[in-house]
Amino acid sequence: MDSGYGDALDVIRAALKEHLSNIALACSFQAEDLAVLDMMVSIDQGVRVFALDTGRLNDETYEVAEKVRQRYGVAIQWMFPDRVEVEALMRRSGAYSFVESVSARKECCRIRKVEPLKRALQGLTGWITGMRREQAVTRDSLATIEVDHVNGGITKYNPIADWSVEDTWRYLHEHGVPFNRLYERGYRQIGCAPCTTSVKPGEDDRAGRWRWEDEATKECGLHVDGSGI
Ligand code: ADX
Ligand code: SF4
Repeated sequence: MDSGYGDALDVIRAALKEHLSNIALACSFQAEDLAVLDMMVSIDQGVRVFALDTGRLNDETYEVAEKVRQRYGVAIQWMFPDRVEVEALMRRSGAYSFVESVSARKECCRIRKVEPLKRALQGLTGWITGMRREQAVTRDSLATIEVDHVNGGITKYNPIADWSVEDTWRYLHEHGVPFNRLYERGYRQIGCAPCTTSVKPGEDDRAGRWRWEDEATKECGLHVDGSGI
């Protein structure tokens, strides 16, 4: 990326103009999402933001969500998993089924993240993420603009796909954007509490996610089957 943030701002500006009130940011309150949110709000204070509350988030994530709500005045649209499905999962497989196998983990992600995402996207013609290519081997060909075939062919924008982690933090510091306190404790990506750990120097950024799994399987199902346009 160049020294400015112009390219990302251009993508966001064009997306907001095209989709008006039918586009929203999927916000996990990780550093990337908050950089994107800050840029969105700098263009339009009425932007839409949704967050998937899996029921297993860290308290620090709610803390930064609250700071964001107060700073930007946005009404965060929290999405919860289907109560009946979560109750059945817990009764059937217990509280830690996700460590048993990749398929058991994906079942938990499907119930707690993917199905609520589908509901969040209903009625939207576009959505925005904070994904970057360097975040994972599964993202190395991530496009800035994709057609989301899994979610009805709506447009998916990844405006900071080409940013480095340094770009992200430079943006946050330059703009005084709040961030999750877990980053100060060695976390580099922050998902659900039981599936995320801090990362040691020399380890890959994604190492703290589903630590017991192979790098190639580390996607939760929120981001599949995109094709760049
Ligand atoms: S995941 O697939 O491994 O869970 P990751 O944590 O890297 O995803 O986040 C990638 C993008 O997915 C974020 O930038 C954000 O746009 C979206 N996202 C992930 N988790 C959530 C969440 N809990 N709520 C809303 N959006 C999320
Ligand atoms: Fe379940 Fe872990 Fe996926 Fe969260 S990240 S939905 S706790 S398997």
